[in-house]
Amino acid sequence: MTNETPQKLYYPSEEVVKNAAVSGMEAYRALCAEAAQDYEGFWGKRAKELIDWQTPFTQVLDESNAPFFKWFADGKLNVSYNCLDRQVNNGLGDKVALIFEGDKGDVSKVTYKDLLGRVSKFANALKSLGVKKGDRVVIYLPMSIEGVVAMQACARIGATHSIVFGGFSAQSLADRINDAGAVALITSDGQNRGGKALPLKSIADEALASGCPSIKNVLVVKRTGGETAMVAGRDIWADDLLATQSDVCEPEWVEAEHPLFLLYTSGSTGKPKGVQHSTGGYLLHAILTMKYTFDIKPDDVFWCTADIGWVTGHTYITYGPLACGATEIVFEGVPTYPDAGRFWKMIQDHKVNIFYTAPTAIRSLIKAADNTPAVHPKNYDLSSLRILGSVGEPINPAAWEWYYENVGGSRCPIVDTFWQTETGGHMITPLPGATPLVPGSCTLPFPGIQAAVVDETGTEVPWGQGGILVVQRPWPSMIRTIWGDPDRFVKSYYPADFQGKLYLAGDGAIRDKDTGYFTITGRIDDVLNVSGHRMGTMEIESALVAHEKVAEAAVVGRPDDLTGEAIVAFVVLKGARPTGDEAVKVIKELQNWVGQEIGPIAKPKDIRFGENLPKTRSGKIMRRLLRQLAKGEEITQDTSTLENPAILEQLK
Ligand code: WTA
Repeated sequence: MTNETPQKLYYPSEEVVKNAAVSGMEAYRALCAEAAQDYEGFWGKRAKELIDWQTPFTQVLDESNAPFFKWFADGKLNVSYNCLDRQVNNGLGDKVALIFEGDKGDVSKVTYKDLLGRVSKFANALKSLGVKKGDRVVIYLPMSIEGVVAMQACARIGATHSIVFGGFSAQSLADRINDAGAVALITSDGQNRGGKALPLKSIADEALASGCPSIKNVLVVKRTGGETAMVAGRDIWADDLLATQSDVCEPEWVEAEHPLFLLYTSGSTGKPKGVQHSTGGYLLHAILTMKYTFDIKPDDVFWCTADIGWVTGHTYITYGPLACGATEIVFEGVPTYPDAGRFWKMIQDHKVNIFYTAPTAIRSLIKAADNTPAVHPKNYDLSSLRILGSVGEPINPAAWEWYYENVGGSRCPIVDTFWQTETGGHMITPLPGATPLVPGSCTLPFPGIQAAVVDETGTEVPWGQGGILVVQRPWPSMIRTIWGDPDRFVKSYYPADFQGKLYLAGDGAIRDKDTGYFTITGRIDDVLNVSGHRMGTMEIESALVAHEKVAEAAVVGRPDDLTGEAIVAFVVLKGARPTGDEAVKVIKELQNWVGQEIGPIAKPKDIRFGENLPKTRSGKIMRRLLRQLAKGEEITQDTSTLENPAILEQLK
């Protein structure tokens, strides 16, 4: 965004403003002022109002061991109680909690009462296997009611879940199980995606065969009905175990700081980090953002299209909507099956009011609608929609405008929510009945969140000048630590450069010189964002060099119209540099290898071979140069420090 042309603002309609939880910019500013005046009072008041505590807390924020902050530490609660029992007790037992739509179009609905029963049975099943408070349970399940049930069941008994996305490989699964020291694995025979039945249990078996000594049991949910090998004494069909369980399970009351879940995400080094979240603070932000950002109303049907394998699926499928007593959609399939009108048809069929998806999905559906007019959203009745959301990566203005006009009928505000696995919930986002919108900008911080753009010394830069995005105060739903690696937590998020006082998001940002609106300019570390998925370049490099033919590899990102960023790998083989058909063959081989090592989402789109990589005389790989090469740009920078300039020609 240039700061020369004034931004075009999109205002919410009077109708939206009138009924919104945060109605108008004055209301937004009042909330920010309330937090600025009495920070702990702001969060404490809402934590009391929005959460049912078994033991009330007396202290809001404990900063004595910063940056290991504690929130509501002497309070006790249970998340599953707040999501389920509370709704049933409030007369919502017969309300539909989940509408599941399968890949093939099969629909089933679960009421709050039913869901409480199913979660309780599942919780009892876990207990019968000896799983107890504080144990880690890894969940490797497709999008399903059982996925939500398994997560809620862990929360109910105080076990800490760690979901591994169903697209991750056996190796990735094994690494996460071992890092977490999980005692049980919950998986399914397979998953349905785009008309195909894909295996899951066999991948889990491969992971366990590679050595996961902490796992005692594997609970297997039936989905595809495919043939499934079961290991006696270790593997159990969920149906068999559930059949004998009671549907009543007293919730385990846990301390507010008790780890609700770990979720592994990519960082700047090769090893994914287990982001640890709390119970009380996390739940508070999940509820508060449902109310303020999504303006959730009692009769709303809410649809977040994320997978439960990502943080968006945690906060805005499993926890936020249920804690607010909403009805939400759980979708197993993909946006392009049976055709690219699937999302629009589902919005029409289920009368969705709030729709939350990722820019990468929007861009691919724009392309599909351009090519096949029949799947254009104008062919569907989308009049039920009230609010649209975007998450995961910057949304380019052209996609924003298309989404706004064609999906939202120029009537629905788009909340472009900036946040991260580490932040637990929205950090910078418009509020639909308050914030005038600018395509491509996530606008202003959520009330109570103190975000800023600073330079290398931690000093705020003037509006209009780019810099580093930081958060100046701890907030309730923030990451508590990296599982098993507190030093890495401090180094990654509270670096010494800022005297350990500022949370480093890892993104660059710029504020508009007139409105102060934030625009995220992309990661400032070695993390790529491909189709809204975070990938560490070092992770992909380690996978590549683990291949027997590879001597050295460097991975960078390049802008991509569809996926936001695309992965480009520069590779030096141990043997001769391949050309022609041989190169094509090795590229395929390496792509598949990375797919197997990490998962299909990590496959490099482009692989180029050189006899060496461009390095300085001191042996440092010149990544900035590689980024230019990846983009196909002319090399303009000084290459005089380069050890071997001839290499550049090979890598073009
Ligand atoms: C990026 C996903 C611009 C950002 C919730 C961040 C965004 C990373 C936005 C976190 C947005 C997420 N605008 N960039 N609205 N939302 N990002 O942990 O680079 O999977 O650091 O969490 O995605 O990705 P993660």
